[in-house]
Amino acid sequence: MASEGKIACFFVFFLCLRPSSEERTWVKSAYVYDGSDIRLSAIDSSLFSTLICAFAYIDSSTHQLYVNSSTEYFFHTFTDSVKFENSSITTLLSVWAGREDPSAFVSMLGESSSRRSFIESTIEKARLYGFSGVDLCGVLPSRSINMTNLSALLREWRDGVDAESRKSGKPQLLLVMAVYCQPIFNSVSYPLDSIQRNLDWVHLIAYDYHLPTRERFALPHAALFDPASQNNTDFCITWLLTRGFPARKLVLGLPYHGYAWQLEDSSPDAIGHPAVGPAVTADGSFGYSSIKLYIRDFGYGATSVYNSTYAVNLFRKGSVWINFDDVEAIRAKVTYAKEKGLLGYNVFQINNDKNWVLSRTAQEASEDQQHRRWFWPVLLISIAIVLLIFGLICYLQRRTLKSKGILGVMKGFSSRLKTMVCKGESLESGTPNLQTFGYVTLKAATDDFSSENKLGEGGFGPVYKGKLPKGQYIAVKRLSKTSNQGLEEFKNEVMLTASLQHVNLVRLLGFCTDREELMLIYEYMPNKSLDLYLFDPIRKYLLDWVKCVHIIEGITQGLLYLQEYSNFTIIHRDLKASNVLLDDEMNPKISDFGLARIFRKDDIEANTNRIVGTYGYVPPEYVRKGIYSTKYDIYSFGVLLLQIISGKKNSCCYGLNENLNLLEYAYELWKDDKCMQFMDPSLDDSSSSCKLMRCMQVALLCVQAKPGDRPSMLEVSSMLKNESSAVNSPKKPAFSINKDEDEDEDDKCLIKEAIHSVNDASISELCPR
Ligand SMILES: *[C@@H]1O[C@H](CO)[C@@H](O)[C@H](O)[C@H]1NC(C)=O
Ligand SMILES: *[C@@H]1O[C@H](CO)[C@@H](O)[C@H](O)[C@H]1NC(C)=O
Ligand SMILES: *[C@@H]1O[C@H](CO)[C@@H](O)[C@H](O)[C@H]1NC(C)=O
Ligand SMILES: *[C@@H]1O[C@H](CO)[C@@H](O)[C@H](O)[C@H]1NC(C)=O
Ligand SMILES: *[C@@H]1O[C@H](CO)[C@@H](O)[C@H](O)[C@H]1NC(C)=O
Ligand SMILES: *[C@@H]1O[C@H](CO)[C@@H](O)[C@H](O)[C@H]1NC(C)=O
Repeated sequence: MASEGKIACFFVFFLCLRPSSEERTWVKSAYVYDGSDIRLSAIDSSLFSTLICAFAYIDSSTHQLYVNSSTEYFFHTFTDSVKFENSSITTLLSVWAGREDPSAFVSMLGESSSRRSFIESTIEKARLYGFSGVDLCGVLPSRSINMTNLSALLREWRDGVDAESRKSGKPQLLLVMAVYCQPIFNSVSYPLDSIQRNLDWVHLIAYDYHLPTRERFALPHAALFDPASQNNTDFCITWLLTRGFPARKLVLGLPYHGYAWQLEDSSPDAIGHPAVGPAVTADGSFGYSSIKLYIRDFGYGATSVYNSTYAVNLFRKGSVWINFDDVEAIRAKVTYAKEKGLLGYNVFQINNDKNWVLSRTAQEASEDQQHRRWFWPVLLISIAIVLLIFGLICYLQRRTLKSKGILGVMKGFSSRLKTMVCKGESLESGTPNLQTFGYVTLKAATDDFSSENKLGEGGFGPVYKGKLPKGQYIAVKRLSKTSNQGLEEFKNEVMLTASLQHVNLVRLLGFCTDREELMLIYEYMPNKSLDLYLFDPIRKYLLDWVKCVHIIEGITQGLLYLQEYSNFTIIHRDLKASNVLLDDEMNPKISDFGLARIFRKDDIEANTNRIVGTYGYVPPEYVRKGIYSTKYDIYSFGVLLLQIISGKKNSCCYGLNENLNLLEYAYELWKDDKCMQFMDPSLDDSSSSCKLMRCMQVALLCVQAKPGDRPSMLEVSSMLKNESSAVNSPKKPAFSINKDEDEDEDDKCLIKEAIHSVNDASISELCPR
């Protein structure tokens, strides 16, 4: 039960941490022509991910690309203008292959040398104008185009682009192609194999199936479905997919135009009705915005009808019949594209949109679909979790005594959730730079968590040194399954550390939750932790006074950041020498935020029912009443400071009668003006005595029994910096034998019982008094 609860909590946590990550980039593309009456700056750039500049032509004698002199300027400035509006938009250069008149294209295809000169010129032009890729448009399968040679072109094109990228060091140019949606023309079909292998995607020209200039029956030109014929988009896409063409390389064409037909009579049921030819315009073609104007001009009540059988909008007045895509048809098509797993959509004739109504609809439809995809899984998981938590709580209420720990986890977790929900700026905002690591990667990096790579063992579990394939060293903290500092601390640490960035805090690089493992990945600190120097008879000589001062300053800055300058006030609650790590230049970095608590800026103190921390660094008010505030860390800092200057552990007994703890011993010496006796002889440096005494005094101020008497971190920092300023005399430190009146003897037992030692310095080291 407990482990299920953990898993459930964990799941919620990750849903909160990283909501709906986008699977891959959904293409929202559009053709833009020179001469179409739209300025690039007028395009709403939030609605598109790709814009295609149309068209460049193929010179029939040189087989090279050329642009009309009148359009040269448009091509030249296209990318710059687009990127000026939105730098994340991809731009493509479109080459016109001629459609019904492919002579230049065909003559280029015929010879490998001419194909080469075409390919080279497309790459050169694309780079010259700053495009990210090239589009080939207007290749209509016919007998005049040898498909074997088209395959060869695409293959050579891909090779050319590949080689150019390797040579120039720039990202490969994208290669895309427009494909007409009638799968088989004149019994010739596209070389699908080569297309899918060599192109990044294809635009389906999913419109113009029926034109009033060609046919005598009024049919929709861009039907998504058609119960009566194969001339529809669904048929085409199904045909492609069943032949193994990948959906993720298909981009659905959306027409922003329709056609007007002149019917033989004014029959009300017009689909498939006999027609005499185009209406309204010469060929019946009609842009969306003009159609809307045309319909509006008929006055009140004139409106188009959406027919969902075909996914088309229809308008009829008298014998004029217009079929086109309005918002309903566009929405149906984009939804369809999402459902089929296609790559995106591509708008034909963007300038026909009216106030971006269609483009916005397309964008919204793709987002709706995104949400719908998440809806059921999320709902089911939420229900499961609510049931689980409910069950767990019932279970726990029966067995409160034995299961205190789990209840603590649940409580802590729900309060965390509350905090996250209440604070608009939730912790997620700090997590984007966190990496997730796979178990396999970490296993390889640490040589299967070998004992050679073990750096140490904390309450959380062992810490290993690792080396990533790229050569970067990391420290991997692995949650031991028996640890009493478990899931709660893990979540805590991920959320907190991710949102903290300071040179004196160890940086969390990422985490791993593979295979029921919980691991945290940190920057590697080659010089390990401060305690290995302070309390080692030999290594302590590596720390001279200058280095000590540097370390003290670093820790001070780190704490200042946590308490004063980060977004939250953070109480570390486990500051000690073994949690101060040293980088290759002996810069100190505070680590291990597993016990840290976020503190609201306006709170002065908070209460906890779970006593944690390491003996010797825990202030009395916390031991006795579970109260913690920023003064908790001040106290621990004071203890640490005394250890740094004395090189002494706090778990031994000092003084003539060996009956004093470190704080009392320091206090007695300070009172008797014998400070220098307290100092570590290895720091012996006459020039530093002043600073040493200042440090000692500040440390004693920090370890005073009453939290209110202890200075703030800002005061500590300024006292340490400014050696000449006057400083209060410290009162008796906490946990003194010669007790103050308001403390009674019972407290001592409390100390022994209440502290769950979560780390090396265990209760058994308690000094006998
Ligand atoms: C820029 O384009 C990207 C990709 O389409 C889009 O997500 C973003 O919202 C656009 N930004 C603006 C300011 O239009
Ligand atoms: C410019 O391009 C258009 C493409 O439609 C073509 O019709 C026209 O003849 C070209 N003009 C020149 C001067 O090449
Ligand atoms: C296809 O290309 C080959 C040379 O690669 C050429 O010999 C052949 O004539 C071409 N076929 C057509 C139909 O252009
Ligand atoms: C296409 O060209 C290839 C040579 O590249 C040739 O073997 C084949 O017969 C040609 N096919 C047609 C239909 O012309
Ligand atoms: C598709 O439409 C064309 C006319 O554009 C027609 O000739 C052809 O028969 C139609 N195909 C099918 C399968 O209905
Ligand atoms: C769409 O039009 C066809 C032919 O006119 C008709 O049979 C069908 O019922 C219509 N569908 C809807 C949903 O209106």
